[in-house]
Amino acid sequence: MSQNIESHQVENRVFPPSSEFSAKAHIGSMEEYERRYRESVADPEAYWADMAGKLHWQQPWNQVLDWSNPPFAKWFVGGRINVCENCVDRHLESRADKTAIIWEGEPGDVRRLSYRELHTAVCRFANALKDQGVASGDRVIIYMPMVPEAAVAMLACARIGAVHSVVFGGFSADSIRDRIQDSGATAVITADGGWRRGSVVPLKDNVDEAIADEPGVKRVIVFRRTEQDISMRDGRDVWWHDAVAGVDDQCPAEGFDSEHPLYILYTSGSTGKPKGILHTSAGYLTGAATTFHDIFDIREDDIYWCTADVGWVTGHSYIVYGPLANGATVLMYEGAPNHPDFGRFWKMVQDHKVTLFYTAPTAIRAFIKAGDQFPEGYDLSSLRLLGSVGEPINPEAWMWYHKVIGGERCPIVDTWWQTETGAILISPLPGATPLKPGTATRPFFGIDAAILDEEGNECGPNEGGRLVIRKPWPSMLRTLWGDDQRFIDTYWNTYENIYVAGDGARTDEDGYFWIVGRLDDVLNVSGHRLGTAEVESALVSHKAVAEAAVVGRPDDIKGQAVVAFVTLKSGIEGDDDLKQELRKHVGKAIGAIAKPDDVVFAAGLPKTRSGKIMRRLLKEISASGTISGDTTTLEDFSVVAALQGGKEE
Ligand code: WT7
Repeated sequence: MSQNIESHQVENRVFPPSSEFSAKAHIGSMEEYERRYRESVADPEAYWADMAGKLHWQQPWNQVLDWSNPPFAKWFVGGRINVCENCVDRHLESRADKTAIIWEGEPGDVRRLSYRELHTAVCRFANALKDQGVASGDRVIIYMPMVPEAAVAMLACARIGAVHSVVFGGFSADSIRDRIQDSGATAVITADGGWRRGSVVPLKDNVDEAIADEPGVKRVIVFRRTEQDISMRDGRDVWWHDAVAGVDDQCPAEGFDSEHPLYILYTSGSTGKPKGILHTSAGYLTGAATTFHDIFDIREDDIYWCTADVGWVTGHSYIVYGPLANGATVLMYEGAPNHPDFGRFWKMVQDHKVTLFYTAPTAIRAFIKAGDQFPEGYDLSSLRLLGSVGEPINPEAWMWYHKVIGGERCPIVDTWWQTETGAILISPLPGATPLKPGTATRPFFGIDAAILDEEGNECGPNEGGRLVIRKPWPSMLRTLWGDDQRFIDTYWNTYENIYVAGDGARTDEDGYFWIVGRLDDVLNVSGHRLGTAEVESALVSHKAVAEAAVVGRPDDIKGQAVVAFVTLKSGIEGDDDLKQELRKHVGKAIGAIAKPDDVVFAAGLPKTRSGKIMRRLLKEISASGTISGDTTTLEDFSVVAALQGGKEE
């Protein structure tokens, strides 16, 4: 019996790029993509060396890649570079007065920073960090609201070689403490608070709680944003505005080794303690800058908006490092997408004339659920390209994004990557790739992606297996901070020197990659292994459904029974007839094997803070009715409480 993942999804819609878009695009045809892809994977080192050559180097490298001690890669060996200089100083000659960051606070306040102003702010803060005792190699926690100073803090760390670790502003004191302890951080950069849905998030209070018994933290620098009373501890805490008062606004950008650590970013593994993903300097920047340029097809006059928080890797690579390395204008937003209502994003697209818009499927599904009247109330004609990241996008959500937001005019780049990969690895090129709803399409240049079966053989078209990357790439994680063995065990132990992403996937007859779900979540029904994504997408293609998650529940006869948790669109009530209809609907779209045994209507699904559905919790609920596992990464516990029948923890 085959242990491979089966695939039953049929998606025949194809959307080629318009000739108008292709004519102006950086990569304008599939022929060009195919040719460059072939060349790049035949000799990835040559390709990446070309791309790295576009950066500003203080000393050239003498070896492109050292892979003599896999899985520990070294890229651009012997080179010296300053990441911050590449993102800021490099633009002063031709773009000093160009806006680098447009920022909108949740209350509606707007600020603009030109590249010149960004340079001054970064230099001053970098000098302030040095004055406060922060030196190259020191770890610095950044726990900030989405304000320009969050980006300034990251860039200032990079400028002086300090290693930042951004902690998402929605995380608790415990999460901050874990990350401080694991990274050995000696300084924290925070704010009094940030605005979220009209209330103040008490960031400084959380930091105080986190470090009450952490003598290793010598300095806390506090940006004033929300102006409520907070306590400042003498000798440890200093206001940002005091720290930069009177400091020099020039700070030399020293060159650091290509492999100098740039940042640690913690991802909540599905079990166990968070993993500190380590990214280094030159290779990471090469990956972020190159992918941003080609995939977002950046042009000088674009206004680019990525709605992620800087606390996620998307915020690192595609708000700060990738866009700024390209001299782009980036929009940043502080608050919630539904404040004061679900029209907020679309009003901002209209007001700031956003041309490139990058968000997550979870947000798209929330907008679909809220209703079309919100986007329809605004002028979205400035948009020319849309992006998606974070989960497989259900084809029906893709169609909605395409029609209602993109006006059937904008290509959608469905970008597959991970915190670990540092940069996008699989994505359409918007002027070249014919799009199909629900697939991230083809690998980026230099990326040798494949689907392997259990034995390590390459799967044929429409055979499900493990998504792997067979050759190193410059923005790959270098290790897990302080835990080389876990790095090896987690990603490199299945096949020899091949990176295993942890996703199940298949390619179709055009070589497009379809993610079928996380390998941990695969269902096993009567000996058939099914990915979660296809069944969920079948459910979401029903007109009543906004969002769905499927999990396996232990079943004596079938091994696992399929349980579907379903959220309905606004104004629709679930009943037994609808349950039967949804079962039939899945049976028709995918086959009888995937028909849910149970359908559970839910007001909301449990998600991580970054919006990913936590199927692990749903699995526990359907097996035992309660949850005993770790819920610290859960966004909203009330969702789980409701699913457990109102029982509190
Ligand atoms: C996992 C990585 C990469 C930044 C945000 C998430 C899933 C991500 C896609 C996509 C299908 C996707 C995968 C991946 N994922 N993008 N376009 N299509 N699945 O980063 O938290 O490290 O999560 O997100 O399962 O492995 P992350």
